Order: sequence, then C-alpha cells, then structure tokens
Amino acid sequence: MPLMPMSQILKEAEKRGYAVGYFESWDYGSLEASLRAAEEAWSPVIIGFGGRTFVQDSGWDEVKLTGFAAIGKELVKNSTVPTAFILNEVSDPELIKRAMRLGFNCVMFDGSGLALEDNIESAKEIVKQATKLGIDVEGQVGRIPSQKERINRDFLTDPEAATCFVHQTGVNALAISVGNVHMLIHKEFSVDWHRLEKIDKLVNVPLVMHGGTGFPDKLIKKVINKGVHKFNVGTILKKVFLEELRKNLTQKDLDRINPQELIDSTSERDILKKACSSIKETIKTKLEAYGSAGKVKM
Ligand code: 13P
Repeated sequence: MPLMPMSQILKEAEKRGYAVGYFESWDYGSLEASLRAAEEAWSPVIIGFGGRTFVQDSGWDEVKLTGFAAIGKELVKNSTVPTAFILNEVSDPELIKRAMRLGFNCVMFDGSGLALEDNIESAKEIVKQATKLGIDVEGQVGRIPSQKERINRDFLTDPEAATCFVHQTGVNALAISVGNVHMLIHKEFSVDWHRLEKIDKLVNVPLVMHGGTGFPDKLIKKVINKGVHKFNVGTILKKVFLEELRKNLTQKDLDRINPQELIDSTSERDILKKACSSIKETIKTKLEAYGSAGKVKM
C-alpha cells in the first residue's frame, strides 16, 4: 500500500469520522520514525518536510531538496499503510513547481501573506499544474500566528473568503486559522467555534488544523465533527527528540563511552535511535487521539 493521494486518504477519514496526522520531519531519521509509527499503529499517514527546510536567502537548496525527495519517495514506495508525501508551507510557487517534479504527491501553498485575490490567483495556477501531474494541493486562508506573536483577530479565517478561495482554486484541502497557534508548547489555545462551524458549513473540502503541538486533546473529536480531518504536528517532535538526547548524553556518558557506540551503531546505547524511537512513540499517541490508529485493514 504505497503512495496514495492525500485527497483519497482524507476522503476516507471524512467518511469514517477520524483525522489524519501530518508529522513534519527534518531528516531521514525523523521521516522514517513517522512512517514506522503509522505502520505499527496501522494508521494512514502524511509524511514530509516543511518548505523552510530547503529555503535559503535566495531561492532554495536544490541538492538538499532533490536528495530529501528521493529518500521520501523510496521510503513511501515500501510503506505498508496508505501514505501521502507532502512539501508543507511553501510561499514560493516556483519551489512548489519544482517539488511537484521530484516525487512529492502533495504540496501546501501558503499564500496567507498575500491579498485574497493574489492568494487565489497563485493557488489556481498551482492547482492547474498539479492536476496534470496527479498531485494534490492544500491551500490556506487566514494567518496562523506563532507562539511569539500576539493573537490578532484579523488573522482569523473569514468563512466567506474561504469559500471563495476553495471554489475558485479547486484545492483539495484548506488550512484555517480559528485560534490555532504554531509552536505552542506550554499552553493550549481556544477554538473560535462559531467561525469553525461557519467554515465547515460553507467549505466542501477537508479542513486542516496546523499547530498540532498545542492543540488540546479534549477538543480533537469535536473539531473532527466540524470538518477537520488533518492535523499538522511539528514542534513536539523536536522537543521529545531533544529531551531524549539530553537524557542519554550526560558528560559522564561522553567521558566513558566511545562515541562510535553512541551514534550510528547497533548498540542499545545509540542515542539517535533512542531519540527517533521517542518521536515514534509520540506520534503513535497522536494517531490514537486522532482516531486513525487501527483504521488500515490488515
Ligand atoms: P506545531 O509545530 O505547532 O505542531 O505546528 C506544526 C504545523 O502546523 C506545521 O504545518
């Protein structure tokens, strides 16, 4: 069951009442951990990278992009659960077009920094090209703040603008801003239910909740009932990875143990393997919470 279109994965989630997780990776270890978590949990999944992994001062790092795309393609080819491979949060349409040629079967265009008409124009063009290649597109209306920013009501997704965007562009999924915040670790945010309900009534594609790290578990079922069928998760994965490294790498360890045993070894002491394993376990907990665990027929 290798690569599958995100739209198909989300359609199934909509039909059966759960959400699918996208877990943002930064290297081979984290990417593999996301896939293995889904396989162990018998869950569909979306794996991939954020655009910022490749962005440079001008343009992008072509060698890194090509290499990471090849690794992802190879991993997904051997996946035992329905898997989509995404390049997430890219505001440069040229980078998106390049990624579409390299094996990502899904791209996310973040045009939320543009005026609505420009966001629509760019997304429309991307969808046109993506459709020819059988690639899915996620768009965004409204801005999702980071934890450092002040919450501003102007950021929130306007339901009418969202309908217009989806209708005119033909995107397969829509990222929304309804109180969700990126990179929120020690706090939880509250959802603007009235706005979400209105968006759900008007928009006919699955909704995407970015900021999965700070999203309260107790509200997951409720937002799934209001049309959210994809959660994006990033920060918590880096946090558990770092915590595991710290736990297993004291100065005493460094003084006593041969570094060859700690990295890239078959030893139980390999700290990178332990850290990746902690990513995997965290993702499995999320898959349970989203209701997607066990949904793949064995
Ligand atoms: P967090 O880092 O807050 O989990 O958000 C990730 C995300 O939304 C990536 O698109």
